[in-house]
Order: sequence, then C-alpha cells, then structure tokens
Amino acid sequence: MWCGFVLGCGAISCGQVISALAPCIPYVRNNGAGGVPAPCCNGIRSLNATAKSTPERQSACNCVKALAASISGINYDLTNKLPGMCGVHSPFKISPSTNSKSIK
Ligand SMILES: *[C@@H]1O[C@H](CO)[C@@H](O)[C@H](O)[C@H]1NC(C)=O
Repeated sequence: MWCGFVLGCGAISCGQVISALAPCIPYVRNNGAGGVPAPCCNGIRSLNATAKSTPERQSACNCVKALAASISGINYDLTNKLPGMCGVHSPFKISPSTNSKSIK
C-alpha cells in the first residue's frame, strides 16, 4: 500500500511530489504535444535535489506511481523519458508495476 496524499510519505511528502510534477501532467497525457513545459523540468530538478537518500527516493517513487495511477491517459514511455529531457538521471522507471522497494 502506498502512502496517502494527505499523510505524506517519509521525508518527502506526496504533496511536494505532486506539486513539483503537476506541470508535467498535460505533457504526458497529450503524447508530448507542445514540448516539455519549463516548470515541469524545474519540478523534476527540484525533486532530484530533494530526494537524495534511498528512503526518500523510494518515497518519491511511491508518490509518483500513485499520482500516475490516479490520472487516466498517462503515457508511461514519455513519462520515463522526461527526467532525461530535463537533464536529470532518474533512479527509477515508473510503470503501473514498478516496485519502489527495489530502488537503491
Ligand atoms: C540530481 O541530483 C544529484 C545528486 O544529488 C546531483 O549530483 C545532480 O547534479 C542533480 N541533477 C540535476 C540536473 O540537478
């Protein structure tokens, strides 16, 4: 079971993750139409800077997974390319079956 949006999850709250990634949502729902919005890359960079430890990255992963699952029409392929497009190396790939505990 993933942490709740209200309760947060460890050092990183899901609220933080959601507000950082919210600008990316139209992009990944519309198959990349319009290009990556600048605020989306800013959000990904700030999450990268915030989630440094393994538990933080696992928390962030759980939040991202829960967020993606709650929105219809997410293109996971594009979602996984986003960090690279923003110059960030993501420690995890998001899919409906991602096991966040496997992240180091
Ligand atoms: C992502 O985080 C790592 C580790 O803290 C850092 O070295 C790297 O510069 C960050 N990447 C960006 C694009 O901010």
